[in-house]
Amino acid sequence: MKKDFISIADFSVDEIDEIFQISLRLKKELKEEKEHQILKNKTLAMIFEKPSLRTRVTFETGMVQLGGHAIYLSPADIQLGKRESIPDVSQNLSRWVDCIMARTFEHSTVTELAKNASIPVINALSDLEHPCQILADFLTIIEHKGKLDGLTFAYVGDSNNVCNSIILFSALHGINLRIASPEGYEPDTSVLDKAHKIQTKNFELNVVNEPEPAVNGVDVIYTDVWASMGKENEKKERLKIFADFQINAELISKAKKDVIILHCLPAHRGEEITDEVIDGPHSVVLDEAENRLHTEKALLVKLLKAA
Ligand code: CP
Ligand code: NVA
Repeated sequence: MKKDFISIADFSVDEIDEIFQISLRLKKELKEEKEHQILKNKTLAMIFEKPSLRTRVTFETGMVQLGGHAIYLSPADIQLGKRESIPDVSQNLSRWVDCIMARTFEHSTVTELAKNASIPVINALSDLEHPCQILADFLTIIEHKGKLDGLTFAYVGDSNNVCNSIILFSALHGINLRIASPEGYEPDTSVLDKAHKIQTKNFELNVVNEPEPAVNGVDVIYTDVWASMGKENEKKERLKIFADFQINAELISKAKKDVIILHCLPAHRGEEITDEVIDGPHSVVLDEAENRLHTEKALLVKLLKAA
């Protein structure tokens, strides 16, 4: 049976732990210049409806480092659902390649690709979730904090796709999560309902409309852009609505002394985060970006070796 990775909740705690272990091994072996052919003759088709730096480069580089190959399909190439229906694209790709990775606007596009494919499908960001990002984020937290148990985590800003995946991961892994978003920009009830259905012990969630109470005494602070891809036309209005939710030196001074700051990137410096913080001693954003490579290689090994 093929396995897809559409939501961060598609993997159990044990499976995520296995992906983290494979990631750490591959990371170490890359530094030792060990060569791999684990995915020899395997091909990944990468469908992008939106732009990307990290996701495209890490998946493509990851496939090459594992002895495989990746094909970049831009919106202009296949015009998903316009030139050809989603099921037709999915069924054709299933005859040629070994895995499909897709970055889409509608979440239903990636689920429809998965439903019609006989090969694994990976969600590389949809309007609803960004599960690949969350693998790298929590591996980075483990590397810096040595554990996930007992950590307090504050997400400050727009309750977007990245935030949704953080909520679901936290529900499954029992993390104490605080979310600070302006009124009207809190997480969707559908995501909160799903989190409460899958939640394990120790999961605590508090949603507030001010950043300070959320970051008070926390171990981890996370932020993301205020206007995600597809919402650029709301940017001017959002700059005003989110103005008090900036991660700056004053705000992070309320957190623990050894707080770490994460951002999935790209960052809009001077908006959701200041230069001083993103370039400062608490920031781990480049470790986080690097870990996209290692966690995605581990994900590909898990999906393609089991397939
Ligand atoms: N964080 C992330 O997914 O980056 P890209 O949009 O550049 O792929
Ligand atoms: N929330 C952002 C994440 C980018 C990686 C977006 O969807 O644009």
